[in-house]
Order: sequence, then C-alpha cells, then structure tokens
Amino acid sequence: MSNNNATDMTFVPATDSVGVEVRGVDLRKPLNNEAFGLLEDAFDRHGVMFVRGQHLEAEDQIAFARRFGELQVNFNSDLYGLPALPEIFVIGNIEEDGKALALKGVGNTWHSDMCYTATPPRATLLYALEVPQLHGLTLGDTCFASAAAAWDALPATMQQQLEGKRATFDFRERKRSRPVSAETVAQYPPVEHPIVRVHPATGRKSLYVMRDDCTAINDLPDDEAQRLIAALAEHILRPEFVYRHQWQPGDLLMWDNCTVQHRAIADYALPQRRCMYRTTIAGNRPR
Ligand code: SIN
Repeated sequence: MSNNNATDMTFVPATDSVGVEVRGVDLRKPLNNEAFGLLEDAFDRHGVMFVRGQHLEAEDQIAFARRFGELQVNFNSDLYGLPALPEIFVIGNIEEDGKALALKGVGNTWHSDMCYTATPPRATLLYALEVPQLHGLTLGDTCFASAAAAWDALPATMQQQLEGKRATFDFRERKRSRPVSAETVAQYPPVEHPIVRVHPATGRKSLYVMRDDCTAINDLPDDEAQRLIAALAEHILRPEFVYRHQWQPGDLLMWDNCTVQHRAIADYALPQRRCMYRTTIAGNRPR
C-alpha cells in the first residue's frame, strides 16, 4: 500500500470564512508526518475539513482520528457505540425490527460539542455511510458557523468589552431533544469558560457563546447577560460565517469545537435513511 503524498493533496476552501475540502488523499493509506502536518494545519485554519469519496472501515476512521489526539468515548456509546470500538457511536435514524440502531436527533440546534464540560473536545469527526435522499435531493445537511470570523467582524470597542468575560455553561439547564439519565447529568456540574477563546494552535480568537448552553455571564445582571448571549449567538450565525455541508456517502468530515459551531438539519424521516459514524478527539481546558 503506497503512502499519501503531501504533493498530491490539494486544499479547496468551501467558503471565505469556514471549511476546506481536501482532494488527493485516501485515508486508508498511511500519512507521513509532512502530509499529516498539512492536513492538521488546514484543519486548524479552516475549522471544518472534509474529504469525499472515502471507503473507510471503522478502524481506519479511528486510526486517522488518533493522529489528532487522544479519543474520547462519548456517553452515547453505552447504547449506540460499536461493540468492539466504543470510540465510535452511530448517529442517524436507522433501525432493525423496530429497534433503533443509531442515536436520533443529535445536534439539531446550534452548539459546540460538550461545551458544558471542563475540557470540551478538540474536534469531532463524522463518516457518512448513508445519506437521506428524496426524489434525488439530498437531505440531512449539517451547517457550520465560524465563531472566529464572527469575532473578527465585531467592532473593536465591543471586542474590548468582551475580553476577559466568562460564561457559565450548565448541562442541567440545557434544552434537549431527548431525555438524558440523572447519572449523566450528575457527571457534568456547571463550568465557566472564557467567552473569547484563543485557539491553542493558531492563537486566533473566537466567540464561545451558545444560546442553549450559556446560562450566565459573570459580573452581568441576568437580563443583561441573556440579551448579550442572544445577540452574540445570533451574530455568529450571520450567513457570511456559515458553510452548509451537503453529505455524500463516503464523506469524512471533522470540525473544530473551538472555532466552529454546528447544527444538523432534521428534514428527513424513514424510509430516508441517515447513518454516520461519530468519533470525538479530546481537548484541553479553554483559554
Ligand atoms: C452532531 O452534532 O454531532 C451531529 C451532526 C450531524 O449529525 O450532522
């Protein structure tokens, strides 16, 4: 099996603010340090990176994800993890004999993964096995918004006001599309994070505020904090900061949970099937 060569890879930005497609790479094959370095750098700079037309086994996905850091086993693996590889859990709407084989309704509102934990994941990967279609139209897209471009676009006076502020993220208060056990809720006591995060590799700043997860901004009265959270969360979603990914089977896509927020569009239902393998790469305490 020949290696992937750095010289064969090309990088095509998906929009001016977020996302890059990598061409000329087969993720089943080894990546030398030079080729991996180019991928990691593109990922850190663009926030979302995808490769189309892949033919991956679960082990290939895990090996690729591990190049970016330690993997986390998500609590949803208890029910939807691959039995031999709990680092992957299955999301989508597939079922057999009426039994769900995948977790439904994941991420249907804007969020950054596990922002309610002390050390949110660096990145999340999805590998598309089945993508819903209706009359030849693709459904089940995922939207990504650059919270880094959103920060850059703020007036300097507002940036100065926001620097140094911290928000509380409270899993108990989170709006959910499905119930979560009391044990899981107890695992995640409220945490504080800076609302202006600095990317650990690039040093770029991003807004780290989500309407459904931030419950307070420290030092601000509650009504003022709620208005600021709503205004910033809305600002991040301006169309010029958003990339909408239309999936194809064989897409491997990953996003950076520091600089990007995302939302899955739930516009499909059986018999339109969606099935994705999801992997999470651990991260550090936000700075
Ligand atoms: C997620 O938020 O992890 C799921 C995104 C998707 O299914 O498109």
